[in-house]
Amino acid sequence: MPRRVLTPERELEGREGAGSSLDLTPLAEIVAEHYASSGDLIPVLQRAQRHFGYLPDEVVTEIARLTRLPASRAYGVITFYAQFSTVPSGRHKICVCQGTACHVRGGHGVLRAVESELGIKAGTTSDDLEHTLVTAACLGACSLAPVMTVDSQYFGKLTGAKAAAALERIGGDGGELDDD
Ligand code: FES
Repeated sequence: MPRRVLTPERELEGREGAGSSLDLTPLAEIVAEHYASSGDLIPVLQRAQRHFGYLPDEVVTEIARLTRLPASRAYGVITFYAQFSTVPSGRHKICVCQGTACHVRGGHGVLRAVESELGIKAGTTSDDLEHTLVTAACLGACSLAPVMTVDSQYFGKLTGAKAAAALERIGGDGGELDDD
């Protein structure tokens, strides 16, 4: 079982006791630095997500209060851009393509193998916050179908066994786009 590793970049300290005990005080500085001059919510949300790891309701509500915008405006931005998440996400994001080209070449079997390897279903995150598994309608590498990504790395022409082997390398040297 992979061990949980918290990276400084994610600044997860503030997530202890996620819920009502989140320390929201950094948001005042984030809003002052990133919103006051531009009036743009996106950099505020990006910075807040980097700090907290995701954008829980209390963070969004506090951003709305500080910017004097309705929370619905912030949620509109959050739901429009895939980069934002209102639920905790894992340290590694695994995306298995279920688009047509991948599907006809066994993409569904690859997904089942990945789910089995990680012990989680698509659309969920492991309890230790190591892995988030999602699917996509196309990852833009159809000639290498079936395809998955692990963080920013592509793995192509997969079988279930190849996908499982690639996942075992998470935290090691990683993988590269495989077009053999
Ligand atoms: S359909 Fe899977 S990469 Fe395009």
